[in-house]
Amino acid sequence: MKTKIWHITKENEIQTYLEAAKLLQAGEAVAFPTETVYGIGADATNEQAVAKIYEAKGRPSDNPLIVHIADQSQVHEFVTKIPSNAKKLMQEFWPGPLTIILPLRPDRLARNVTAGLDSVGVRMPEHPVALGLLAVAGIPIAAPSANRSGKPSPTSGEHVEEDLSGRIAGIVFGGKTGVGLESTVIDCTLETPAILRPGGISQEQIEAVIGPVISEGKEVAQQEAPKAPGMKYTHYAPKAPVVLIEGDVAFFQEQIDVAEHQGETVGVLVSDELARKLKASKYVRGLGSRDYPEQIAYHLYDQLRHFDHTPVTLIYAEPFVKIGIGEAVMNRLDKAAGGHYIRQSEEN
Ligand code: TXA
Ligand code: MG
Repeated sequence: MKTKIWHITKENEIQTYLEAAKLLQAGEAVAFPTETVYGIGADATNEQAVAKIYEAKGRPSDNPLIVHIADQSQVHEFVTKIPSNAKKLMQEFWPGPLTIILPLRPDRLARNVTAGLDSVGVRMPEHPVALGLLAVAGIPIAAPSANRSGKPSPTSGEHVEEDLSGRIAGIVFGGKTGVGLESTVIDCTLETPAILRPGGISQEQIEAVIGPVISEGKEVAQQEAPKAPGMKYTHYAPKAPVVLIEGDVAFFQEQIDVAEHQGETVGVLVSDELARKLKASKYVRGLGSRDYPEQIAYHLYDQLRHFDHTPVTLIYAEPFVKIGIGEAVMNRLDKAAGGHYIRQSEEN
């Protein structure tokens, strides 16, 4: 399949939306930017269209998709109820990087969107191109991140092209995405809402609006409440293995030196502060200041992907403080590393 590419400009914007929306309405898959990461969209009411997403991504069919809408009123078409907590969250954070799981109204969406669950994740993105395209298409659009399954999510049109060129009908290029990590997923079908995936809206921000919520990895694990099915798969991983190094500068330096001595080509993924202190190989990538987790989030996927274009055989990364979007940063880094840490305290 030849993938049609559009580069959005002020002049061609409307024409681009019309052409891309036409493909979506015809049951094709088209990638577009959102404020979090790029998504691959397809008509959420059309089973064959949605199947093209799973096929293009190589995504397991038991992992449900998020439905994107241009206007809050559209949500009533395919959910049975909007609990009051969910209403408050929509008012506060939509459009924006928050996906809300709601009870599904049967027979309105293609079955494969929700992978057979009786709930559906919904989000109204805050990106002019996403909103423009969704509005012109006029249909709910199922859209997962536009990466091949298992790879870091795309934060630029080039990343999407790298993964999906020839596999989908079109890609709308709209620059780099702002947040850089996916939306927060919160399950509002539960009495006490549960964060299933940390993301662009922090737990602190959510709790300021609706009070205490259950957070991923803590109470949820204990109660064995349902988690975002997608979280069980390996994710966000570049080709070389990633290991998190917990310790001081000298300890980090020592790990690099030892690995290089053993013949590894070490890629280093750290804050700008640490990058300045390490005498490391040429494959040191600064993610931004560790005092600004938004900077780390913004650069993380791009830098993880960058290593795939270098000869590195091993990536050593710095853990960050889990405050604000730092929680989401560490969730992704932990998964990229498969939970693999080298800790200074263990050695002492
Ligand atoms: O920022 C984002 O959310 C991006 C952009 C494109 O909007 N999309 C995205 O989609 O990250 P995806 O498919 O890569 O991740 C969706 C996550 C998965 O972990 C999935 O398991 C979970 O949401 N999910 C979707 N529907 C669900 C449901 N009904 N119940 C529980 N988890 C659900
Ligand atoms: Mg994804």
